[in-house]
Amino acid sequence: MTSPPNTSASARFPAGGRAFPHRDLIAIGDLERHEILYLLAEAEQYVAFNRQASKHSDRLAGLTIINAFFENSTRTLLSFEIAGKRLGADVVNMHAAQSSVKKGETLIDTAVTLNAMRADAIVIRHGSSGATGLIAGKVDCPVLNAGDGQHEHPTQALLDALALRTKLRENGRDVEDFTGLTVTICGDILHSRVARSNILCLQALGATVRVCAPPSLMPHGIERMEVEVHHRFGEALNGADVVMMLRLQNERMDGQFIPSPREYRHLYGLTTDRLALAAEDAIVMHPGPMNRGVEIDSDVADLAGRSLITSQVEMGVAIRMACLDVLTRKARGIAGWGEGEWV
Ligand code: CP
Repeated sequence: MTSPPNTSASARFPAGGRAFPHRDLIAIGDLERHEILYLLAEAEQYVAFNRQASKHSDRLAGLTIINAFFENSTRTLLSFEIAGKRLGADVVNMHAAQSSVKKGETLIDTAVTLNAMRADAIVIRHGSSGATGLIAGKVDCPVLNAGDGQHEHPTQALLDALALRTKLRENGRDVEDFTGLTVTICGDILHSRVARSNILCLQALGATVRVCAPPSLMPHGIERMEVEVHHRFGEALNGADVVMMLRLQNERMDGQFIPSPREYRHLYGLTTDRLALAAEDAIVMHPGPMNRGVEIDSDVADLAGRSLITSQVEMGVAIRMACLDVLTRKARGIAGWGEGEWV
């Protein structure tokens, strides 16, 4: 049986010679390129670990991880729970709908309450942009952002990068990063924390990023993120190596942003014919949940050898194991935060 990653042997900090310098994981925008590559390298070892029949480690034994989710989730909540349990931690889920939030307790009071229970890591999903950063300032343990409003979803971008790099390597490309790659992100860019995190992550790893949406779903000033901005899907797809589709986030829409789902699919849905405009063998991604027949047709979503959608889910567990492992090293007394080699 493969052991969990041997950090002393394998995980030398790739550049700079310092220990991982962040207590929290709030935003991809806080991370340097080499820190992203470090987390991907750690997660790669957990991919192999997770493919064994027996996948239990005691690495985080004795630690308590609280998943506090103020918004619905399937993938992120379950993969953080599985990640913590596979590492031997005690994992507790707090669903806002069944909590004292419903009695009017504030976000800060909720955070202080979790902190008083001596959590060793708190994973938070919240509908307000900046909520996870706010909580990080009120607690004594690492905070991991599981998606905050329209701000960021950093572990999604990391898992997407891992899924993409794994696929490129399977296709025979000996790549460390995404230099030379063109990625088209199409959908509800305006409301998407996934888009923001992915733009930052893909660019940090060298990719050229195109974004495509109707004008009503494109954030003002997105050009400042140094992306190519498109409103015609055919032009955005032209020769792209990767096509990442996003769903319409109806839960964040206050008013009418598109004429109808049918009209939206007509202009922005990824069909087999449209995919042919991208590079030969272009890779298809979607963070889920999908609205089949709206932003993506089933023929494309389930396209064997080209669609990474189930691989993205698998990589999500490994990335979350790596993030929990790395960020709790101080609590486990095995990593310093100053100068010195990664332990
Ligand atoms: N991609 C993603 O965040 O999915 P969930 O909302 O199911 O967690």
